[in-house]
Amino acid sequence: MDMEIQGRAAHVAAIRERAEAEMKAMGIDEAFIDQLVETFYARVLQHPTLGPVFDSRLSGRWPEHMQKMKSFWSSVAFRSGAYGGKPVQAHTGVANMTAELFPQWLALFSETLGDIAPNAEAKAWFMATAERIARSLTLSLFYNPALDDPQRKPA
Ligand code: HEM
Repeated sequence: MDMEIQGRAAHVAAIRERAEAEMKAMGIDEAFIDQLVETFYARVLQHPTLGPVFDSRLSGRWPEHMQKMKSFWSSVAFRSGAYGGKPVQAHTGVANMTAELFPQWLALFSETLGDIAPNAEAKAWFMATAERIARSLTLSLFYNPALDDPQRKPA
């Protein structure tokens, strides 16, 4: 291994170690991520507007989706590199997907964390991360320059 590659590997390992320590300090571990994904998507399915949008796309493929979401959150939390998907592409062409669903998704996620997160810090970390990703997905999926008027009041 040449020095540059060795240096990179050490850098990646250091990032992972720091992420693991930060998560541990907040009481976030793989078991919690598992519980969060199971609880959240069970509630998504019961939700009047989110449920049908998810289920019509994922009918027959739920176990695969759950696995993906666990590896996604694990990658984000522990910098593990376990998830290698393309979230923007995955959300393209989802029938009846609208920008208005995102605040509903975030509200349900917040409610779920309020019920099961080990503490307020863990809840805040998941919410800040989800809000950032939701904002980025919303822009990728729905950004319309014609509506991007700084004078326009938010609806
Ligand atoms: C209203 C909001 C949302 C809806 C309706 C939605 C819906 C979906 C659906 C139907 C899929 C499955 C796509 C497929 O396999 O065919 C999916 C995948 C996924 N979603 Fe969402 N989603 C929403 C918001 C979010 C947010 C806020 C996040 C991140 C915090 C997220 C992260 C993901 C990821 C990582 C995948 C897996 C992508 C892959 O296939 O690798 N989604 N979503």
